[in-house]
Amino acid sequence: MFFLIGYMGSGKSTIAKELSTALNMEYIEMDETIEKDQQMSITEIFERYGEEYFRELETNLLKSFQGKKVISTGGGVILSRENQATLKNGTVIFLDASFDTIDDRLSNDSTRPLWTGNREGNRQRFNKRRPVYHGLADHIINVDKKDTDTIVAEIIHSLKS
Ligand code: S3P
Repeated sequence: MFFLIGYMGSGKSTIAKELSTALNMEYIEMDETIEKDQQMSITEIFERYGEEYFRELETNLLKSFQGKKVISTGGGVILSRENQATLKNGTVIFLDASFDTIDDRLSNDSTRPLWTGNREGNRQRFNKRRPVYHGLADHIINVDKKDTDTIVAEIIHSLKS
């Protein structure tokens, strides 16, 4: 199993999809899977049931994975000790984007309840999480100003070394 981790907007879904094709493995997007299972958008889940409920769904889904898969995780999957332990069952790839890259990409995003109009709040959450992603990663790939093909090639290169 390969787990792609990183902040919202770091490109996990796009990269995981390409990487799964290159490695001939199944691709899974955790948020999409949760939305399908619950028949609700992530925003709706947060609004109706709260973040804690979403985190429970996320933890249970993470625990269910096995076999040859490339999994695009949600940005907050790294928050709990339980999830951190589960991630150890696979190879963890961190897509490292700067705050400015994320801020640019998400400037018009309305699908992420934890990305708000409060720029300083966004920056604080980013700064708090970054060392956690770092600490959990087997491979760290900087993604600033790179296209998908370059990033996938760098991941494959890093996996081989
Ligand atoms: C979250 C990231 C989102 C989604 C939810 C919470 C987070 O996933 O799981 O909005 O806490 O960082 P993406 O990283 O795919 O945007």
